[in-house]
Amino acid sequence: MSGNTFGTLFRITTWGESHGYAVGVVVDGCPAGLQLSAEDVQKELDRRRPGQSRASTARQEADRVEMLSGIFEGRTTGMPISMLVWNKDADSSAYDALRDKPRPGHADFTYQMKYGLRDHRGGGRASARETVGRVAAGAIAKKILILEGIHIAGYVIELGGIKADIKSSDISELSVKAESNPVRCPDLGAAKNMLQHLDEVRQEKDSLGGIVAIIAEGVPPGLGEPVFDKLDADLAKALMSIGSVKAVEIGAGLHSAKMLGSEMNDSLKIKEGKIEFESNNAGGILGGISTGAPIVCKIAVKPTPSIAKRQRTVDIVSLEPAEIEIMGRHDPAIPPRIVPVAEAMMALVLADHLLRQRAARL
Ligand SMILES: Cc1cc2nc3c(=O)[nH]c(=O)nc-3n(C[C@H](O)[C@H](O)[C@H](O)COP(=O)(O)O)c2cc1C
Repeated sequence: MSGNTFGTLFRITTWGESHGYAVGVVVDGCPAGLQLSAEDVQKELDRRRPGQSRASTARQEADRVEMLSGIFEGRTTGMPISMLVWNKDADSSAYDALRDKPRPGHADFTYQMKYGLRDHRGGGRASARETVGRVAAGAIAKKILILEGIHIAGYVIELGGIKADIKSSDISELSVKAESNPVRCPDLGAAKNMLQHLDEVRQEKDSLGGIVAIIAEGVPPGLGEPVFDKLDADLAKALMSIGSVKAVEIGAGLHSAKMLGSEMNDSLKIKEGKIEFESNNAGGILGGISTGAPIVCKIAVKPTPSIAKRQRTVDIVSLEPAEIEIMGRHDPAIPPRIVPVAEAMMALVLADHLLRQRAARL
């Protein structure tokens, strides 16, 4: 019922609120024997951490992970792995005035309607702070995938309508370039324009949205469970479950609606004795099962809902109209920050299906 758990064999439960004591995750179902250190997890959490550039919020969260269970002498034991990050830089005062005034574009109104009460500080459970648990668990999933030669990369391909021109198909090169700039865009010229546009919009007390690509290479054919746990269905759920994601595309995605069958179908060929596809409009998935081609997903991320501009809302106690200006510290654009979170969600789905595939046939 509660919706805090994700995955079938590689299963995670995240917990914690933005301004509570801590946030964390319990990973159950990680096989024994995986070499794992706090540094493996910390590396990914550092990529998620806000306050590192002018493309993200100034909130300074040290976000040091503490690993409480499931590891012995540097290797997983097969027992639940519990990880925790303390909330140290939470400033709740900015939220006092918003207690009875739901912020437009946020989950305030829906949480209030559903539960009849809510932890209003920093968005509570709906806050992006919850993604700490996803990224920590995703770091473990990534380690499992790397053992199988599966690599994941994410980067921003559009911000505020400015499109990146991506020429390379080498995902490690694209990833290195993306990580070299604050907007995480591998086209460095476009990145500069995005950053400038972001500065202008921020001065107008507004925010931007964009599109992020997440790609997995080295995925063997055969991952995905017909019919309800298809790989594309699980990826769509995983990516859509991230706050601010409004659309998920796989392969040709929305554009496929405009294509002819002869254009859309990826013809098969033999290359050096192996079966391959001439194109990848399917985004690496057919019938919900991986083809062996790269898995290509794109997500549309909405503009940050917390903006300093004056907005209309209502007071839920007096039922009078009200206006708010959101002060706090916020990301002027979410796409750069969502990259490690989206990679983590893809890693969780692939690790889960990799383990499930091992039970699929004798
Ligand atoms: C990594 C990440 C960072 C985010 N940062 C902010 C932020 O600084 N300010 C904000 O208002 N929303 C931020 N959000 C988005 C809100 O959490 C989200 O829009 C809100 O909870 C409503 O959910 P919905 O957009 O999915 O409907 C962020 C989301 C993610 C995934």
